[in-house]
Amino acid sequence: MGVHALPADHHDGPWDSIITPPGLKDRLLGTALLILRHGRALGQLNGAPHGLILLSGPPGTGKTTLCQGLAQKVALGLSQRGATTFVEVDPHAFPSDMLGEGPRAVLRLFSDTLPEIAARRPHTVVLVDEIEALAVRRSTASFETNPVDVHRATDALLSGLDLLRKTCPQVLVLGTTNFAAAVDEAFLDRADLVLRLGLPDEDTIATILRQTIAEAATVFPGLNGLVGDEALIAHLAAHCLGLDGRRVRKLLLSAMGSTPELGLEPGAVTAAHLRAAVDAERAMLTAAARP
Ligand SMILES: Nc1ncnc2c1ncn2[C@@H]1O[C@H](COP(=O)(O)OP(=O)(O)OP(=O)(O)O)[C@@H](O)[C@H]1O
Ligand SMILES: [Mg+2]
Repeated sequence: MGVHALPADHHDGPWDSIITPPGLKDRLLGTALLILRHGRALGQLNGAPHGLILLSGPPGTGKTTLCQGLAQKVALGLSQRGATTFVEVDPHAFPSDMLGEGPRAVLRLFSDTLPEIAARRPHTVVLVDEIEALAVRRSTASFETNPVDVHRATDALLSGLDLLRKTCPQVLVLGTTNFAAAVDEAFLDRADLVLRLGLPDEDTIATILRQTIAEAATVFPGLNGLVGDEALIAHLAAHCLGLDGRRVRKLLLSAMGSTPELGLEPGAVTAAHLRAAVDAERAMLTAAARP
């Protein structure tokens, strides 16, 4: 579990690095600020927020990065009222044995650990990455996957969230999942906002590629010749369609590692190397799609 005090300058990058459809970031930031700033007051109303935001989408679409960026953005927005604690929970670190150790640990997290952490600063953001690991849909959990334990773990998460909400209305929980279908209905239902991040479109891909190349050229000046080559960007973007953001981000890296010579001298990557790298990516995508 990672615990950070925000805002902190070195957490500035992630929010801007992820390109999203118009309005998505505003909605995300708006909901987060509302919950953190007015959670206590809203808690007295009917239909009070649960303090939970879920981001779903395929692997490599920026869910985790956007949550990390969001924590810094809300911390900046609320900084006049005090600092924000950012807690990153790794659900895979929880035991999931048959003796109920896993559910007990989940409950302890929400009933003891998080309230203790939350008491230290006026605002707390908790990121539970890959939350489906804790909240498997009870109706589809197969009997082979140890159903009693799955039920207990999900119940523990749901009671934990409700408990945390009551005791600490100034806490915001962010959950990510690349498998929303596997997340328990009762859990999805509690989310105040569920946002879906999809695969990047051509414009987004082009922007990611421009950023990646420009950034790399500051380290390897040999790449300066590629900066501003819009014909190349357009060609690559068209051919990257169907790849996730992470793969697009790694295209340049893949060109740099394509031969031992380039590995030693990455500044020597040319447009032709990048075109070859995108062809290799496409070939992998097609191979993966084959039954
Ligand atoms: N829409 C996007 N705009 C810019 N960069 C993106 C985008 N989507 C993904 N990336 C890049 O991909 C990298 C991986 O993103 P991240 O780890 O946040 O994805 P994720 O959705 O959490 O994936 P996973 O489901 O595998 O955990 C980011 O560091 C970012 O550079
Ligand atoms: Mg992730």
